[in-house]
Amino acid sequence: MNIAIFFSGNGSNMLNIKNAVDEKKIEANIKVYICNNRNAKGIKKLKESRDNLIIIDHHNFSSINNWEKEVEKHLKNLEISLICLAGFMKILSKKFVKRWERKIINIHPSLLPAFKGLNAQKQALNYGVKYSGCTIHYVNEELDSGEIIDQSIVGISKNETVSSLTKKILIEEHKIYINALRNIVKRN
Ligand code: GAR
Repeated sequence: MNIAIFFSGNGSNMLNIKNAVDEKKIEANIKVYICNNRNAKGIKKLKESRDNLIIIDHHNFSSINNWEKEVEKHLKNLEISLICLAGFMKILSKKFVKRWERKIINIHPSLLPAFKGLNAQKQALNYGVKYSGCTIHYVNEELDSGEIIDQSIVGISKNETVSSLTKKILIEEHKIYINALRNIVKRN
């Protein structure tokens, strides 16, 4: 299975998938890493795999549709059959998502449907929930609303901060992403 990984920032989920593929825990080919932000910290983490990186900075495009057109040229050339959003912080257009129906998965740092959108960890703390976690899901036309593939729960302690909660959740994100991806690849 040819996969593309989209990321925007730190790239820990991206690197986690790369390592799992390198270690043959997932039998997929990462044909391309697409980054929409030329300053993303994750870029350096790719090291020798930077040959497969394409930076398509969204600042150079007048609309998300034009950005997606450029991205899709690469996806088609490389015969990509699954897009893994791994800390990808742009909202894809409904048209793009429709064209790639059930071919895009995303990781989100909350127990969806709670705390959609940005700063999910902060939203959870502000709300005062006692548990939060992460969700891996298919991407549909509504933000953070596609079919849930898997979730993992973390407890929130009394003196939790956004930073400590983010770290706790990331550990779980890395686990469920690999499980979900492995299962999807096996089925295809
Ligand atoms: C992760 O916590 C991911 O769930 C979140 O951004 C972080 C990226 O970390 N994604 C979203 O909030 C998407 N709405 P990473 O760059 O280290 O993988």
